[in-house]
Order: sequence, then structure tokens, then C-alpha cells
Amino acid sequence: MASTISGFMLILFIAAVASNSISVAASTALAGRKIFDVRNYGARGDGKTDNAIAFTKAWKDACQWKGNSRVYVPFGTFYLGGVSFTGPCKSRISFIIKGTLLAPKDANAIKQDTWIIFRYVDYLTVSGGGILDGQGSYSWPLNNCRLTLNCRPLPMNMGFQFVRFSKINHIKSINSKMAHLNFFAVQYFDITSVTIKAPGDSPNTDGIKIGSSSHMKIHNVNIGTGDDCIAILSGTTDLDIFKVNCGPGHGISVGSLGRFKGEKSVQGLTVRDSIFNGTTNGVRIKTWASSGTPNLVSHFLYKNLQMINVGNPINIDQQYCPNSHCNLKSSASQVQIQDVKYNNIWGTSKDKVAVKFQCSKNAPCKGVELLNVNLVHRGPDGPATALCENVGGRARGKISPQSCIR
Ligand SMILES: *[C@@H]1O[C@H](CO)[C@@H](O)[C@H](O)[C@H]1NC(C)=O
Repeated sequence: MASTISGFMLILFIAAVASNSISVAASTALAGRKIFDVRNYGARGDGKTDNAIAFTKAWKDACQWKGNSRVYVPFGTFYLGGVSFTGPCKSRISFIIKGTLLAPKDANAIKQDTWIIFRYVDYLTVSGGGILDGQGSYSWPLNNCRLTLNCRPLPMNMGFQFVRFSKINHIKSINSKMAHLNFFAVQYFDITSVTIKAPGDSPNTDGIKIGSSSHMKIHNVNIGTGDDCIAILSGTTDLDIFKVNCGPGHGISVGSLGRFKGEKSVQGLTVRDSIFNGTTNGVRIKTWASSGTPNLVSHFLYKNLQMINVGNPINIDQQYCPNSHCNLKSSASQVQIQDVKYNNIWGTSKDKVAVKFQCSKNAPCKGVELLNVNLVHRGPDGPATALCENVGGRARGKISPQSCIR
């Protein structure tokens, strides 16, 4: 009997080691998983009732539950004003959205910079296959950011601040008023199987925006929007991006950097195995022409990227100056860009200048490396070209258009 039991235990042990899911299931059973259905807090999926209070109550109870908890939003259309889901929570927490969350049409009805915010939470999962509908088409006409630098920000769809060891997957974000997903001071976060959609001409609708965050992964995502598919800002380190479909949109961008004092470096970025289709840029690094403070951008790898009819597939722009508010003659960027590798980048460039390195004369780019680049341009203006200003590094393998790096 004893040997039978130990044999059985051994099989269980092997099964548990072989499959994470079994050990997870076992531990959640011990901890006591509990579901907090928003309907039990008065939420109604009728597309009209404001469910902000019901959702907040469900979150509070789930967050205080000592076992693993799950806030559950069933199928249906749940209208929701601005909400903050704040931790710390007692244990792991999931936010499962099956249905559609519908934002107010009127941006003023959301009294915070983001429609749905998660703050100070660890071990959070946002998932469920549901939709975040920002109803942005009603407020895009109010966006004046193309005319003034200090424009009024409109609410972003979903934000994560001071969130660690967490993930979002199987969520679709559509028609945000400004950026779709925003990450600030986030660490160890996985974004996967996320779809982001807004029209190509919707203003400032960045797909995923990241600042002051580290150890994040973005993969298997589809992003088509009116601004950057992914925007990487000050203080972001160790970010791994792969299997992204980007387009329409402005590509995957670092920056703009150098506008504000106290900005932090951006280091350790990988963008690989991705497709850019019809975007205005491919992979871009942009710093303001007249940047106040020194900063560092380094250790980047761009690898295995396909460009389909993309504006400037490879672009370093240290003369970024929207609205012509900079004095290009008297100042140059103090942001140092170094150790940036482009490996196996191919496809078609919409602009004649397929490879564009406009680096700063104050801080010339160092260690820029091209390896196997093949970008073609078709048009009456002739074949694709490369442009180099203040850039040092090297080119190896087959490079077309011919490299101008010295
Ligand atoms: C690129 O985008 C166009 C226009 O949306 C689409 O028709 C085409 O199938 C896309 N190509 C790929 C390879 O995804």
C-alpha cells in the first residue's frame, strides 16, 4: 500500500513538474480562488448605466480577498466613466473582460488622464477576449496638438502605473481618444495577443506608450492606429518587442527625447521578427533639435523586420521639431545615440531615402551597425538612397541602398 501511494505521489510530482498549469491549479485551490462578478455589485451590460461605482466596488473586494481573485465582466456592453483600480492587493488578481467596456463620448466626463487605470498592483492579469471602446471619434476633432505644443490631453484608454509582475493578453482596444495603452513605472510586464485599432488619420492615438519602465515584453500583437504603434519614452530599459504587425501608424518610435529636463536614458531595446505595413516610419529614434539636457540612448537591436511600403524604414532623427518651435542654427541635440544594430531589414520604402541617419553635431551617433539591409524604392525619383549626418559605425553583409556610414 505504502509503495502504491508513494508511486502515485511520484507520478503526481512528475506531472506537476512537467506542467506548470497543474502546480498553478494546485496552489490556487489551496489559496481559495474567488470570482467577483460585477453584476453582483449592480453592474448592467445595457450600454447606458454608468458602471464605474459597481466596478470599483468589485475591484475593492477582489483586491482585499486573501486568495487569488478574479474580477469578472461578462458579455454585454458595459458603459463606464473614468475608473481607478488601486492596490496593493492581498494576492494575485485577474481582471477578466468578456464583453465590451464603453467609454463616455464626452472626454470631459472622464476626470483623469486615463479612462481605466491600474495602480500599485503586483501579479495582475488583464484578459478575457473583451473590447475597450474609447469612442474617440467624438473627441478627435477637438484635438489641437498639431497646432500647439501645450495642447489639452484627452484620456487614454487604459493605463498601468507602478504595476509589476503582471500581464495583459487577449484584449482589443479600439478608437481611444488619445493613446490606447499607457505604461508608467511598470516592471516585468507581458503584453501579448492584444489588438489595437483606430483609423490611420486619428490624432495622437499611439498604440502602446511606455515610460520609466523596465523588463517588459510585447509580442504577438496587431496594431493599426493614427500615431506610433509603440512609443518608447524616457527611462525605459530592457524592452523586448517581437512578432508585431504594425500599420497603419507611425511605426515603432523611441522618443521624442530631449525636450524636458531630467529625462532618463533608454537602453536595452530589441525589436525583432515584425512587419510594418504602410507606416510613415519603420523603426525611428527621434530627439528634439534643441534639447536642454544630455541623455543616452544605447544597446538597441533591430532584427528581422519586413517593411511594406513604409515611409522611412530606418530613421534616426535628431532634428525632430514639430511646429517649427526650435532654433536649428543655434542648438543641436545633446542626446547621445550609440550601439544601435540593424540586422536583416528588408522590403519596400515609400520615400526615396530608405535609410536616414540625421545625428546631432553635438553628440554624433556612435556604433551604428548595418548588417544585411535590403530596402527598395520604386518611383520616378529613382532608386532608394541612404543619408548620413554625424554618424559613425560600420556596415557588413549585403547592404542596399549602399551604406553611407563611415
Ligand atoms: C498590407 O496592408 C494592405 C492594406 O491594408 C493589405 O491589403 C495587405 O494585405 C497588407 N499586407 C500584408 C503582408 O500584411
